[in-house]
Amino acid sequence: MKKYSVGVIGATGMVGQRFVTLLAGHPWFEIKVLAASARSAGKNYGSLVSGKWAMTSPIPESVRDMIVLDAQADMDRIASQVDFVFCAVNMKKEDIKALEEAYARRECPVISNNSAHRFTPDVPMIIPEINPGHAEVIASQRKRLGTKRGFIAVKSNCSIQGYVAALGALKEKFGIKSVLTCTYQAISGAGKTFERWPEMVDNLIPYIGGEEEKSQLEPLKVWGTLENGVIVPATRPVITAQCLRVPVTDGHMAAVFVSFDRKPSESEILECWKNYSGKPQALKLPSAPQQYITYFEEDDRPQTKLDRDLYGGMGISVGRLRPDTQYDYKFVCLAHNTLRGAAGGAVLLAELLCAEGYID
Ligand SMILES: NC(=O)c1ccc[n+]([C@@H]2O[C@H](COP(=O)([O-])OP(=O)(O)OC[C@H]3O[C@@H](n4cnc5c(N)ncnc54)[C@H](OP(=O)(O)O)[C@@H]3O)[C@@H](O)[C@H]2O)c1
Repeated sequence: MKKYSVGVIGATGMVGQRFVTLLAGHPWFEIKVLAASARSAGKNYGSLVSGKWAMTSPIPESVRDMIVLDAQADMDRIASQVDFVFCAVNMKKEDIKALEEAYARRECPVISNNSAHRFTPDVPMIIPEINPGHAEVIASQRKRLGTKRGFIAVKSNCSIQGYVAALGALKEKFGIKSVLTCTYQAISGAGKTFERWPEMVDNLIPYIGGEEEKSQLEPLKVWGTLENGVIVPATRPVITAQCLRVPVTDGHMAAVFVSFDRKPSESEILECWKNYSGKPQALKLPSAPQQYITYFEEDDRPQTKLDRDLYGGMGISVGRLRPDTQYDYKFVCLAHNTLRGAAGGAVLLAELLCAEGYID
C-alpha cells in the first residue's frame, strides 16, 4: 500500500513531538516535512528539540536530520510535497485560523489540534468513536473555500476526551440532563515539563485560561447535528466545569456528576460502557484502541500514572461509578492528554478521513 506523505506543522512543540513519535512507525503515513516558526526554520530537527525533547522514546532517526521549514514562508513548498498536514502551533487564534485556511486553500487538508477553528460551523470537530458522521460537512466547507480536496478538520480539547466518551456511550439510550465536572489536568497540556515549569512541583493551580469554556461548550458541538451544511451544536445537557492544573506529567483525570432523563441502573451503565464501540473499531484503524472504554472495578483506579497509557494512550479509563446525593451518579474518567487528547486523537481522525475517502 502506498503511504500518505504528511507534514507536521508545529513539529518542535509538545504536541508536535508526539506527532513525530507516533508517525515514525505508522503503517499508512510517512513524514515528509517538518515545519515550525521562522525561529526554527533552516535548522536541523534533532538540534532544535534535543534540549526540550519530552518523549520517553528517543528522537526517531528518520527525522533527526530533517531541516525544519517555515510554516508560513514555505507554505507553497510544503503544500505541494504532502498529501495533508497535521497542525499544532502556539500562535494567536486569528493567525492560526488564517494559517490553516491558507493550507486548505492550497488543496492541502489540515488535521488540526488547535482550537481556532473548533467553532467554525462548517469545520467538523470529530472524536472518531462519537461523531464520525460530522465529516460530511466537509463538502460544504470545500464549497465555501473553493477547493476540491483542501479542508480543515479539528479534534476537540484534551479536557473533554474522558467524559464525552463515557457520557456519549449513555446519551442515546438514557438522555443526559445535566453534568458537573471537575478536571485535574497534566502539565504537558500546557506544553510544559517539570524542568520547564518548576513552580508546578508540589503545587496545584486552580486556573487554566479558556479551559472551562471549552470543557462546557465543545461537547455540545461534538453531539450536534448536521443541518444545511453546518454543524448545529446540541442545546443540552447543561455542563458546568471547573479545571485545575495538577502536578502530573501526562493524563487528564475528570470527576463527573451526571443526571439522566431516564435514570439507568448501575449495571445498565456498565453494560453500555463495556459494549460501546465506534467506527474506528469497526474499520480496524491502526490507532484505534481495541476497547474504547475500560471500566476499573478497583476503588483506587483508574490512576493517572498506572492507567494513562492504556491501549497506547488511546483508551479511556473509567472507575468509581456510584450514586450521588444531588445527581443520579458520579464517576471518574481518565484520558492521556497528548495521545488521545492531542496527537493520537488527530492521527486517528486522519486515519478515519483517509479510510472514508476524504483524503485521496
Ligand atoms: N499540549 C497538549 O496537551 C495539547 C492538547 C490539545 C491541543 N493542544 C494545542 O496544540 C497546539 C500546540 O500546543 P503545544 O503544547 O504543542 O505548544 P508548544 O509546545 O508551545 O509548541 C508550539 C509550536 O508552535 C510553533 N509556532 C509558534 N509560533 C509559530 C509561528 N508563528 N509559525 C509557525 N509555528 C509556530 C512552535 O515552533 P518554534 O519551536 O519554532 O517556536 C512549536 O513548534 C496549541 O494550539 C494547543 O492549544 C495542546
